[in-house]
Amino acid sequence: MLELKLEGLGKRYKEKMAVDHVNLLFTNGIYGLLGANGAGKTTLLRMICNILRPSEGEVLCNGSGIQKLGGDYRSMLGYLPQEFGYYPDFTAWRYMMYLASLKALPKEMAREKCRELLELVGLLGEAKQKIKTFSGGMIRRLGIAQALLND
Ligand SMILES: Nc1ncnc2c1ncn2[C@@H]1O[C@H](COP(=O)(O)OP(=O)(O)O)[C@@H](O)[C@H]1O
Ligand SMILES: [Mg+2]
Repeated sequence: MLELKLEGLGKRYKEKMAVDHVNLLFTNGIYGLLGANGAGKTTLLRMICNILRPSEGEVLCNGSGIQKLGGDYRSMLGYLPQEFGYYPDFTAWRYMMYLASLKALPKEMAREKCRELLELVGLLGEAKQKIKTFSGGMIRRLGIAQALLND
């Protein structure tokens, strides 16, 4: 059971209050975040991912602040941003294994997990192809696979 709690979370960019005192509790399950362009969705997600430091409040994972958890939090987290970086000359397999190693997965476990995830997103047959030969949708699916490397 995982509990993610946003406590009075806020982000200010100069005079612009992008996220204003958000209190939310997430437990296991699927959540969606809806809002108009500029409503603050990306800013909120970046704070949840500990990429952006809140101006106010904090994010707690099972009761502990994520800034303090640092690497322990990152080892649980998966994130697929709108735009994500990849090396076009890497094969899908190499890309997944590379990210698995950045996430410190042991090699045997990484191989198993990459195979499983590439199968899940329907790219196992294309695993040895370079990403530059992929369509936009295939690249997106590869992004989903990497976001699922952790639990
Ligand atoms: N780095 C930044 N500097 C200044 N203002 C920003 C920055 N990032 C976002 N904003 C502003 O904060 C508000 C929320 O943006 P954002 O979180 O990207 O919204 P959404 O993802 O919901 O479209 C917008 O008004 C946007 O212009
Ligand atoms: Mg956005």
